[in-house]
Amino acid sequence: MTDRYAVFGHPIAHSKSPAIHAEFARQTGQDLSYVALLAPLDGFAECVAAFRAGGGAGANVTVPFKEQAHALADRRSERAEAAGAVNTLRFDAVGILGDNTDGVGLVNDLEGNLGVPLAGRRILLMGAGGAARGVVLPLLERCPARLAIANRTAARAEELAARFASRGPVTGGGYDALKGERFDVLINATAASLAGELPPLPAEVFTDGALAYDMMYGRDTPFLALARRAGARAADGLGMLVEQAAEAFALWRGVRPRTAPVIAMLREA
Ligand code: ATR
Repeated sequence: MTDRYAVFGHPIAHSKSPAIHAEFARQTGQDLSYVALLAPLDGFAECVAAFRAGGGAGANVTVPFKEQAHALADRRSERAEAAGAVNTLRFDAVGILGDNTDGVGLVNDLEGNLGVPLAGRRILLMGAGGAARGVVLPLLERCPARLAIANRTAARAEELAARFASRGPVTGGGYDALKGERFDVLINATAASLAGELPPLPAEVFTDGALAYDMMYGRDTPFLALARRAGARAADGLGMLVEQAAEAFALWRGVRPRTAPVIAMLREA
């Protein structure tokens, strides 16, 4: 019997996850199906329940349902608990396991694909919403010299940093507070790119050889354009998307697919 998986979101039509998981399945010889399902904004839990009742084995969850997926799970991994959000569900006889593979996806893309070890580096994380919160603990686990969280609403960044203060050298504040500081790895987890906007970064925030990373993918963003003008390396979030999928696939199937050929395939398309 073919095991069934799905990604739930709203909107979901342009999701690349079905193509990614189809390629992982082909590569590893796993017999599974994976489809994108649009859940109504007020009907996420019902949609998941119906999918599970129909024989679903697991699911990915994307915007805007990750917090609801966290509530739906009856067991959660430590990283899902820390993120306060779940992007991967596994259904089994004892219930629903919730995991969050976004943070490890980012770290694997930065270190594995882009070749930037995070230990000892000065990292700037921009944003304090769900996308930022999901990656704080996985970043701190790589032992950076410093993790600064900057947000338009400074208080949200301060709160986020305070929550993880016991886990590593993390601080939070507004963009003004960054004046005079430089970072080796700068990660844009804000929604600014979606609106074609740029977080208000001070000039000279990039060290020589810095890596600028935008979690958005599929188009150039004002942040990556700024980084290139400053002489920094620029990377979009396509690798993170594929890496978080690989981690979910490994949780479900017990085998880890190779990601590089899938990233290359998506870039070509
Ligand atoms: P997500 O779950 O995608 O992180 P969110 O919780 O709505 O979405 O958070 C969006 C983030 O992008 C926030 O950090 C937001 O800053 P505020 O907390 O001040 O609202 C940030 N953001 C959105 N538009 C921005 C812009 N034009 N410049 C800078 N930051 C922006």
